[in-house]
Amino acid sequence: MIDFEALFKISYGLYIVSSGDKIKGNGFISNTFFQVTSEPVMFASCCSKNNYTAELILETGAFSASILPENTNPTIITNFGYKSGRDIDKLNGLNVIYGETGVPIVLDDCIAYLECKVVETIDVGTHYMFIGELVHAEMMDENLEPITYAYFRKVRKGSAPKNAPTYIDRSKLVKKQPASDFNKFKCLACGYIYDEQLGDPSNNISPGTKFEDLPDDWVCPVCGTEKEDFVKL
Ligand SMILES: Cc1cc2nc3c(=O)[nH]c(=O)nc-3n(C[C@H](O)[C@H](O)[C@H](O)COP(=O)(O)O)c2cc1C
Repeated sequence: MIDFEALFKISYGLYIVSSGDKIKGNGFISNTFFQVTSEPVMFASCCSKNNYTAELILETGAFSASILPENTNPTIITNFGYKSGRDIDKLNGLNVIYGETGVPIVLDDCIAYLECKVVETIDVGTHYMFIGELVHAEMMDENLEPITYAYFRKVRKGSAPKNAPTYIDRSKLVKKQPASDFNKFKCLACGYIYDEQLGDPSNNISPGTKFEDLPDDWVCPVCGTEKEDFVKL
């Protein structure tokens, strides 16, 4: 028996893992970035094979990780965690520098950053685990508190989307919701709940509108996340 609630008790941080170069740079939100050895210092980053950033890490053989604070701007989480660099230019308008390996490093909402050169790529099915040796690390603002995945879930009411290695399908969780004619759908980015019974008055969506009947271009009224990144409660 697997109690999937137990998996939520594992601690993680949240990072923007970036790769590419000045011409095509990109990054994604990751909670699975962690140190694996100290001599030499090496880190692992688990990256979905569907992520655009995976292609860039395979191409360049390097990646950076920006450590995010508790008060990270929600737009950073939405753009880097729920949208793909195949559809939008995520680095546009941000404070970005390029490291020793040439990869982009996002400095917005950055406590410190690390830059790694890939020494091994492990195929773990849906994801690659990139093992990288640390080549550069720098502190940007040591007074900020790093955000944890638990804080993101509990305080900021966020959840990881399907591409995250730690995504858990709600049907696997023991606590079930009571049945009702109207359903509720939660925005994975900011925790906003679309309640079919109430509709979305801010966008002239009448009470009783089923989630599947919302217009295709309807987005979360709080943070702008698209319909596909809502989950049924
Ligand atoms: C809280 C959170 C944690 C995530 N952790 C991971 C992760 O560790 N690995 C991963 O591949 N995707 C993770 N994701 C999903 C990616 O950030 C997301 O699929 C992103 O849109 C991929 O962007 P890209 O296609 O531009 O590379 C996470 C997302 C969120 C919001």
